[in-house]
Amino acid sequence: MAFSTVAALRELIGAVDQHIGKSTAGIGLVLGSGLGGLANEIENAKRVPYARLPHLAASTVQGHAGELVAGRWQGRDVLVLAGRVHRYEGHSMEQVVLPVRMLAAMGIHTLIVSNAAGSVHTRLQPGDLMLLADHINFQGANPLVGRNDERLGPRFPDMTVAYDAELRALAHRVAAEQQLRLQEGVYAAVLGPSYETPAEIRMLAAMGADAVGMSTVPEVIVARHMGVRVLGLSCITNLGAGLGVGTLDHAHVGEVAGKATQKMVELLGGIVRAIPNTPGVRRLP
Ligand code: HPA
Repeated sequence: MAFSTVAALRELIGAVDQHIGKSTAGIGLVLGSGLGGLANEIENAKRVPYARLPHLAASTVQGHAGELVAGRWQGRDVLVLAGRVHRYEGHSMEQVVLPVRMLAAMGIHTLIVSNAAGSVHTRLQPGDLMLLADHINFQGANPLVGRNDERLGPRFPDMTVAYDAELRALAHRVAAEQQLRLQEGVYAAVLGPSYETPAEIRMLAAMGADAVGMSTVPEVIVARHMGVRVLGLSCITNLGAGLGVGTLDHAHVGEVAGKATQKMVELLGGIVRAIPNTPGVRRLP
């Protein structure tokens, strides 16, 4: 039987409405490695673990507790995906992007995605924050492969401006106000879960990437497919393989991401506060 995304979304959103009431939030946030703590700052929070919602896959990665949190943050109504699932966990692309499709169908107009990433050159150092200016999809798959459902979006969505120029300008303004160094660059998404070889890091640099990670790009593609504007932020947790001394490990990546959490949360807070609290409009009534 063919998997119908629209039917799954309808069931999923029906269940979400029952758990947390009908959200009219306009802003969605995807919290990457180390940023999970932000979910504790949400006021009037209503939480649902992914495991209690139909069709959503639970994450198996440490530091990625999977739950949907709805509430208020910085005076704005938000829907937060605390934890994401990755393609490398063996989930299908449909499952990887379903949480973001859910937020889009529930009506968000703005999606803020965050992740931990390695740098592919030394101009970006561990602890630096990088705004996504663009991306390269090296995952060898695209979440839009398959029959297109026009109710969700067009067959061939444009990616010329995947990362909204206005939101990026806003992020730079807020960073300047907070006297926080914010760089901008191209995020390359690879499949993982092995980290790159030094040769792969050199290839990514030669091909125009600035940072590399294993997430985000599928989510951004479906958000753009559904007409949601996107802001992306990477926390650089490590120099790419071969650029520094020693080897890479997930615990260290999580540790650096944890240390950068505070400035990342402050920056995101300033950005969210600067976005008007326009309610979302359901895309799948
Ligand atoms: N490579 C891929 N993904 C990552 C890295 C890396 O070096 N650091 C954090 N996520």
